[in-house]
Amino acid sequence: MFFSLFACKQQTSDMTKLQDRIKVLETQVANSYKPGFGESMSSVQVHHAKLWFAGINKNWKLAEFEVHELKEVLETIKKYQKERDESQLIDMMNPTLDSVSYAIKNKEEKSFKRSYALLTTTCNDCHLQTKFEYNIVKIPDMQQFSNQDFSMKP
Ligand code: HEC
Repeated sequence: MFFSLFACKQQTSDMTKLQDRIKVLETQVANSYKPGFGESMSSVQVHHAKLWFAGINKNWKLAEFEVHELKEVLETIKKYQKERDESQLIDMMNPTLDSVSYAIKNKEEKSFKRSYALLTTTCNDCHLQTKFEYNIVKIPDMQQFSNQDFSMKP
C-alpha cells in the first residue's frame, strides 16, 4: 500500500517536471533565431553578384559554388518562411538556375551570360508577383567585393 502510493506520487512529480521542461523548450523554440525573408534575400543578392563575376572571369569552380550557395539560401527561405505566401514561388528559380548550372558545367561563357540574364529576369518576375516591383535587380556592372579575387590564376 505504502509503496504503490509512493509510486503514484513519484509519477505525478515526474509528470510535472516533464511539463515544466516542455514549457521551457517551447519558449526556447519561440525565441530561437530564424532567418528573415529579407535577410535571406540580401544573401541571395550577394551570391547573385558573385556568380556573375565568377562566370565572366571563367572561374567555373567558383561559379558552381555560387549557384550552390544561391540554392541553399532559397532552401533556407522555403524552410524558415513557410508561412509567407511568397515562399510558394521560390521554385520558379529552378529552371533558370539549372540552365546557369548547365552553362557552367560546359564552360560556355556566352550561354552563361544568356542564362544569367534570364535568371535575373526571374528574380524581378517574382518581385513583381509579390508586389515588390520597386526592388529591381540587374546584372552587376561593378565588382563591389574588393577583398575577393574572382579571376582564376593558372
Ligand atoms: C519567391 C519570390 C522571389 C524570388 C524568386 C526572388 N525574390 Fe528577392 N525578394 C522577394 C520578396 C518577397 C522580398 C521582400 C522581403 C521582405 O519582406 O523583406 C525580396 C527582397 C529582395 C531584396 C531586398 C533585400 C533587402 O532587404 O534589401 C533583394 C536585394 C532581392 N530580393 C534580390 C533578389 C535576387 C537577386 C533574386 C534572384 C536571384 C531574388 N531576389 C529572387 C521575393 C523574391
